[in-house]
Amino acid sequence: MKINTAEFVVSNSDAKKCPNEPIPEYAFIGRSNVGKSSLINMLTNQKYLAKTSSRPGKTQLINHFKINSNWYLVDLPGYGYAKVSKKTKAVFQKFITDYFENRQQLVSAFVLVDIRHEAQKIDLEFMQYLGETEVPFSIIFTKADKVGKQKVHGLIADYRKKMLANNWEEMPPCFITSSEDKTGRDEVLDYIEEINVEMFKNQNFI
Ligand code: GTP
Ligand code: MG
Repeated sequence: MKINTAEFVVSNSDAKKCPNEPIPEYAFIGRSNVGKSSLINMLTNQKYLAKTSSRPGKTQLINHFKINSNWYLVDLPGYGYAKVSKKTKAVFQKFITDYFENRQQLVSAFVLVDIRHEAQKIDLEFMQYLGETEVPFSIIFTKADKVGKQKVHGLIADYRKKMLANNWEEMPPCFITSSEDKTGRDEVLDYIEEINVEMFKNQNFI
């Protein structure tokens, strides 16, 4: 898919106040610092559209970016950031769960995981939660530039094993990406386009 336009629309700490147009959206979620905001910039070919930082905890709100005037990418705060105070954590958790549980426009989530680390409990628990909440999701492995190309498939095979051992019957769709060298850009965008085509066929998808 070609990206013609990408614009920031709004930030929210309340899922109810997110844009109410009936168009599909895709949310990026995962541990703090995994590369959610960087991936949005990579996909949209913009350096500073979503704010990134080498320090975890940069994104603190639900951010809507409108793409090609007819669908949204959504950047969310990360989970698992130990330095956030308990109170802030509880507030984050509340608006993130409100978002996943009530957002009708959300057609699919992408759970981002750092390809360098073996499957983490917090990510597996979050995927479990998405499954229970009936939110379809895919996995995006980030920072592939940090591991040798020959290692990638072994790492994903290990991840798959761990998911299957955690009661998943199959792996969801997986993407290998790097925001540094743009690995995986076409694959992620083509996947979204395929879903969009289905969504646009059905004008009343929500
Ligand atoms: P929070 O908003 O804090 O939850 O983090 P985030 O998941 O949005 O991460 P962000 O995109 O801000 O990136 C965190 C750090 O990882 C930054 O220093 C990025 O430059 C770096 N980073 C992100 N993606 C990649 C990647 O694909 N390769 C490499 N080498 N670094 C990356
Ligand atoms: Mg971020």
